[in-house]
Amino acid sequence: MAIVTAQRLITIERHIAEQEHLHPHATGEFSRLLRDLMLAFRLIAREVSRAGLNDILGLTGTTNVYGEAVRKLDAYAHEVIIRAMEYGGHVCAIASEESEGLIPLANGRPRGKYLLLFDPLDGSSNIDVNAPIGTIFSIYRRKHPDPSAEVTETELLRPGSEQVAAGYVCYGSSVTLVYSTGNGVDVFTYDPTLGEFFLTIEKLRIPRRGKQYSVNEGNAKRWAPEVRQYVDYLKTPSEDKRRPYALRYIGTAVADVHRALHYGGIFMYPADSANPSGKLRLLYEANPLAFLVEQAGGRASDGYRRILDILPESLRQCTPVFLGSPDDVAEAEAFLQRRHPWQQGVTEPHLQRSQ
Ligand code: AHG
Ligand code: MN
Ligand code: MN
Repeated sequence: MAIVTAQRLITIERHIAEQEHLHPHATGEFSRLLRDLMLAFRLIAREVSRAGLNDILGLTGTTNVYGEAVRKLDAYAHEVIIRAMEYGGHVCAIASEESEGLIPLANGRPRGKYLLLFDPLDGSSNIDVNAPIGTIFSIYRRKHPDPSAEVTETELLRPGSEQVAAGYVCYGSSVTLVYSTGNGVDVFTYDPTLGEFFLTIEKLRIPRRGKQYSVNEGNAKRWAPEVRQYVDYLKTPSEDKRRPYALRYIGTAVADVHRALHYGGIFMYPADSANPSGKLRLLYEANPLAFLVEQAGGRASDGYRRILDILPESLRQCTPVFLGSPDDVAEAEAFLQRRHPWQQGVTEPHLQRSQ
């Protein structure tokens, strides 16, 4: 059996170096930032794979800024990423889903021109049951005219379209790193015996349409009627056998989006009466995931507008999320905006002709 299926053996280090050569004015700072992040991911992956043997399962006994119980692995991942970044001198600001505002950087260290936002551990509720969890990151280049000026929180309130890179690590049956610097999406698989991420899928493309939907349907009674109609539609068998869709939901956005990127379909966390702005955090989750989905040829929307166009008003802002295959997300938007023929009782043959 082949050790790795890829034709060329490309480690993440080599890939980062090759990407850097595509930018003639690159100083190497961005590449070094990514390398620092990779170190943090390796450390987190190590603890995740030994969870149960080490003292990493369970709660810390504290709550985060969203009032959610903090698990030990949340706290560990948060700390490790900060430690890996603060001495490198490539970032000038870091913000994490697990803490309020900007994270103070070590004094007396050089500051770089990048802003890093991250969700250290995505899918916390899955940690203790060995289900997939993730880490999400989002990187911006600072725009302030004076690089020595102290960074303020408002400098991070930028639309996701300005991200220079975004990605996630999915700690699942294997550890996978998926990232983009705006030049498509590349997928790496971690070999724990070598401590290396190897390129396993180059320029991942999401299918135009899928056959799976992913949502916490336990919230259905709290959704707007349009969302219920859309999900009803997905479950209604069609003559052309395109429907019903299969339901797949892990409850870790990283893992649910990872599946959607490969198989297509739609992942949603709509607004509901308990979470009128949805549950996913715009800056720490929705923007980086939307960036990747778009880079893979997909679509990411809050139901009415492109997620990457939203101008954030606070670091903790949440947004409804509909992302995945472009045709599926466009169809969800049509339902939300009451434009879908099915809502007017139009029968299938008409529907098929109009598409
Ligand atoms: P986190 O663990 O970082 O707080 O994120 C959990 C998020 C996201 O990963 C997932 O899509 C969603 O919460 C699941 O929410 P429900 O349990 O409400 O379905
Ligand atoms: Mn999360
Ligand atoms: Mn988290």
